[in-house]
Amino acid sequence: MDEIAKRKKDHIDITAAGDAGYTKTTGFERYDFIHDALPEVNYDDITCETRFLNRWFSFPLFISSMTGGHHEATPVNAVIAAFCEKYNLPFGVGSQRIMLENPSTRNSFSIVREEAPSAFIAANIGGAQLAGGMAKEQIEHLIDAIRADAIIVHLNPLQELRQKHGDRRFSGIREGIRSLVNDVQVPVIVKETGAGLSESVISQLLDCGVSAFDVAGAGGTSWGRVENIRNGQLDPHFTDDWGIPTVDCLLAAREPLKDKCELISSGGIRSSADIAKSLCLGAVMAAVAQPVIRAIRDGGYDGLETMFRQWEDDFRMILCLLGCERPTDLDMIHLRRVQGR
Ligand SMILES: Cc1cc2nc3c(=O)[nH]c(=O)nc-3n(C[C@H](O)[C@H](O)[C@H](O)COP(=O)(O)O)c2cc1C
Repeated sequence: MDEIAKRKKDHIDITAAGDAGYTKTTGFERYDFIHDALPEVNYDDITCETRFLNRWFSFPLFISSMTGGHHEATPVNAVIAAFCEKYNLPFGVGSQRIMLENPSTRNSFSIVREEAPSAFIAANIGGAQLAGGMAKEQIEHLIDAIRADAIIVHLNPLQELRQKHGDRRFSGIREGIRSLVNDVQVPVIVKETGAGLSESVISQLLDCGVSAFDVAGAGGTSWGRVENIRNGQLDPHFTDDWGIPTVDCLLAAREPLKDKCELISSGGIRSSADIAKSLCLGAVMAAVAQPVIRAIRDGGYDGLETMFRQWEDDFRMILCLLGCERPTDLDMIHLRRVQGR
């Protein structure tokens, strides 16, 4: 197994085992819902349908970019794709950089379009790969392989710096993203991978024409920790816990993005309460990675479906108990700050 394939397999094993969480929390625990004893909605009239990037989805959940590029990734991508096709949920593949270096890995990505002919699928490339400018043909190659509906650029300097042979050149990424937006026909989404997007980063990228931001904040999977484990650095290191909590990212992004650009909440989304709080805080969708990989490892397709159905039931109940008929009814007014947290 080559170095990149080995790394990607380690990523699945370490995250699925639940060994690489943050010590700091997402911040969702700082808020509680304000119970509505007089909801004035009928439970059966509640819909979870959500509009994102001009498409309707059954539920405000995006399955985060995760894998591809080695043979063990193929069945994982196939399960995610079949599940998203059935439930009409958007999802992303993992970084496709490996496809450019090793064309034989294409099938581990293109399987998603075979399993999900009509689902919304996002391609994925690292910001560091865009830093020196990337040929338009190469980008088109990545998009065509999965007939992508959008392309996600992941920003992950923390992870790269903790990787033995990770990228060290980050200058020029912003201009690379601007060129990408001009070169492609599909929407461009920018995400972090768990250390969070600050208000400053979002405002720098807003005028580049990005269509949506996924804050991917701290409190869930720590990619500093993942790489430290891979390096045998088991004693605590400051990079284990480096990053901006998800809730702080959302609070910083909601005003600058209002009516301009769509906001995805992710990084430590672990329940339907986290999804609902995310929407109250201004997100249109929540995205989730680690619980998905764990559910698939433990129970395959059925494990993923069971988790989702539970979240869907719980989310519907939360909407009802807040007097909301649809996800867009969720607002800051449904939350109260818990004293002392
Ligand atoms: C196994 C695994 C592989 C990942 N690979 C990628 C990737 O290739 N590209 C990317 O943008 N994010 C990748 N991520 C990061 C996630 O998309 C997500 O931003 C991050 O894990 C935080 O979400 P979580 O707390 O729900 O895990 C990966 C996550 C996991 C669990």
